[in-house]
Formats: sequence, structure tokens, C-alpha cells
Amino acid sequence: MRLLFVGDVTAEPGLRAVRLHLPDIRDRYHLVIANAENASGGKGLTKKHYRELREAGVDAITLGNHGFDKKEILEFIEAEPIVRAANYPPGVPGKDRLVLEAAGERLLLFQLMGRACMDANFDSPFQTADRLLAEREAENVLVDVHAEVTSEKYALFRYLDGRVSALLGTHTHVPTADAQISERGTAFLTDVGMTGTYDSIIGGEVESFLARFLTAMPQPFRAAKGRASLLGVELVLEGGRARAIRPYRWDEP
Ligand SMILES: [Fe+2]
Repeated sequence: MRLLFVGDVTAEPGLRAVRLHLPDIRDRYHLVIANAENASGGKGLTKKHYRELREAGVDAITLGNHGFDKKEILEFIEAEPIVRAANYPPGVPGKDRLVLEAAGERLLLFQLMGRACMDANFDSPFQTADRLLAEREAENVLVDVHAEVTSEKYALFRYLDGRVSALLGTHTHVPTADAQISERGTAFLTDVGMTGTYDSIIGGEVESFLARFLTAMPQPFRAAKGRASLLGVELVLEGGRARAIRPYRWDEP
């Protein structure tokens, strides 16, 4: 199956990039999956923005540490094709996995949250992956690795090498140049990059974000406005293995 994974859709520029460009390329892929935890003003996902993404051609959505920032997601997360991180402690709303079908094959999709420089209350992403793979419901497996630290992302890649089809890093909003496929057939990229405006600090307005660093005082978060880009990764998966991985980028004219 051919699929496009769209990197962290961030605020209005991210939504605009998806609206403007995804419909033009949608028929190249059997599935389109997007990380959308930052879609609504940089934090969370509202129903309105969820619908916009779906109408532009997104089939399924992953979240992250901001997944529950807009409380209204609790009203639709269970019913829609959305996965939250699988390693939340037990009892948290939402699905820890999705099984999608396309091109005569099945895809198991889940997300693992890193713990280094993030919320230490999450369960182990390593043991959570073991649990989900023990009851593996599809041959092809795509993992969104939502983590801050590159070494933790690589550790998950090595730990799951040969057991999943692809691991794609999200959260840091800066694309990396290390797309690869291991000898065991697992594709990996440390960070897909942000779908949003790079005329910013990882999607946030420069003035207020910079003030945090210059004053060490809390500042209100404001999403940046500016020229939009869509960053993603094209994957070809077959029989559980990755056959191709290629970063994708579109910039608003
Ligand atoms: Fe995040």
C-alpha cells in the first residue's frame, strides 16, 4: 500500500496547507494519515478542524501530548478514526490503535509517546509496543513516535526493528534527513517535520516564544501566521515490510 503521513498539522497555516494542497495529490495514495495534535491554535483538535482535515482527504489521525488540550475532543474521539498515544496509563479515553484497510492489505496504526524531557507519567513505550504487537492485528504496522529526544526515537527504532513496517518521528516540528530502511525492512525517520509555517519558532509566534527564552518567564502561547508548508513522508508498505520511504514537501506559492 502507498501512504502519505502528514507531519504535525500546526494551527491555521497547517490547516491551510492541507486544504490547499492535499486534495491535489490525494489520489496518489491508498491512505493518508496526519498528526493533528497541534491543529487548533497549536494545542489540541476541535471538531471543526477534525472535519476540515477529513474533508481534505485525511483518513486517520494521530495525536500527542497536546491531544486532549481542547476538551471537546472527548465528544468525538471514540467514534472517529483517531488514535491517542498507546502508552497513556489505563483508563484514558480514546483508542490505542486503529486497523485500517487499503489496497487489499491491513495496516495497524499506533502512537508511542516518549518520556525523555516529556511527561514521565506515561507507561513505557517499549513495553506498550510489545503488548500491541503480541496481539498484532495486521501485517503492516506504522508507529508514530511522538518524542522530544532523538536518542529515544532511535532506541525505539532499534527495539522494534524488523517487528514493524515503519516508525515516523513527530513532535519536534523540524524535519530530519535520516530517512532509511533497515535490513529487516523497517523504515525510520527521526522527524517528519511540521505542516505549518516555518516563519515561526516551531509554529509559535516569534515574539512571544522568544520572550520565554529571553526572560525565563511564562508567556502566552500564540500560533504564528505566515506562509504555509506541508511536510510529510511517502511510504510504500508490502507484506509487513517497507519498500520505500521518501520525505515530501510542498510550500505555499
Ligand atoms: Fe507534541
